[in-house]
Amino acid sequence: MKQPTLQDFNRLVEEKDLEKIKEELKYIINDFEQSKKTEFRFSENGASSIVSKDFILDELDQIIKTRTIERTRYYLKRFIKSLSEVKTRKTNDINLNRWKEYDDIITDSLWIIDKRDQSGAHKAVYWGNFIPQIPNQFLRRYTKKGDWILDPFVGSGTTLIECRRLGRNGIGIELNPAVAKLARENLKREQNPYKIRTKVLTGDSTSIDYYSELEKGKINSVQFLLLHPPYWDIITFSKRKNDLSNAKSVGDFLEMFGSVAKETYPLLDKGRYCAVVIGDKYSSGEWIPLGFFVMQEMIKRGYKLKSTIVKNFDATRGKMNQKELWRYRALAGGFYIFKHEYIFLFQK
Ligand SMILES: C[S@@+](CC[C@H](N)C(=O)[O-])C[C@H]1O[C@@H](n2cnc3c(N)ncnc32)[C@H](O)[C@@H]1O
Repeated sequence: MKQPTLQDFNRLVEEKDLEKIKEELKYIINDFEQSKKTEFRFSENGASSIVSKDFILDELDQIIKTRTIERTRYYLKRFIKSLSEVKTRKTNDINLNRWKEYDDIITDSLWIIDKRDQSGAHKAVYWGNFIPQIPNQFLRRYTKKGDWILDPFVGSGTTLIECRRLGRNGIGIELNPAVAKLARENLKREQNPYKIRTKVLTGDSTSIDYYSELEKGKINSVQFLLLHPPYWDIITFSKRKNDLSNAKSVGDFLEMFGSVAKETYPLLDKGRYCAVVIGDKYSSGEWIPLGFFVMQEMIKRGYKLKSTIVKNFDATRGKMNQKELWRYRALAGGFYIFKHEYIFLFQK
């Protein structure tokens, strides 16, 4: 196949006969369909872009279905622009001229993710870690290559592994030295193709001196905050009293979480985003809405709520007999079994 160039498409824009344009487009579409390649390179004025076959075929299909020459020209021009110009916003690298190519970026508030990404250094061994798709979605949607990400409850390092994959710099804080060590080991197993910096600090995120830590790394500010605190005492992460999972009451838990929210707020650039991943808890016959409480703590500190996302909860972990026991308890106790957690998205 002789791949059409941008000039070829520009020539079609100049053509006055709609039937002629469609005739030519038919050949072009056929050539792309027959080609074994899945991506094509288009170059103009020394710059070039790589475009997927699916995107090209979708666009050409829309163009060929138009009924008037004005509409055809409009879509052709838009197509040419999408091949030759990049349009991004300040907070990410998504090329809006080719937004249709990002079909794996979720834009709905209900996230049903069936399978954990277990590739490379991502392992499900750390009880209480989140699925890598969570940081993956946020880093692609709310950060640019080279940005700094801060995760004050970094656990086994899931966020930082994604930072390495996506070319973002990252700092993680973890209270438990053994877990911080695990995160560092996990990171060693992940390649660093973009040569970015990832750092795991052992410390208490409610009281660590963030400014001096950032200063040591010559970092002025961060561009994304990802907070995945313990869901109070659902899992006890350590015996340490400054561990959020050891908070004595929901009030204490919120106070500890609140200090992390307060200390990290000034580090984030204005206009940038922060996500909090948290689930609710059931105790003594009562549903404790930890999620909504935590959301309030963030709003109190000055954040604007941008979205509330409901994500399905790892349903595969429970054993069958435990599931049945919970179903019995739910029927007897008049409550519903947790199948979801929250992700609150905020903007500064
Ligand atoms: C829900 S887990 C985060 C898991 C992480 N997202 C991952 O994928 O591995 C919460 C983590 O916060 C840590 N933690 C609890 N209190 C802390 C504190 N005051 N400062 C820093 N880390 C803390 C726990 O040890 C635990 O590893």
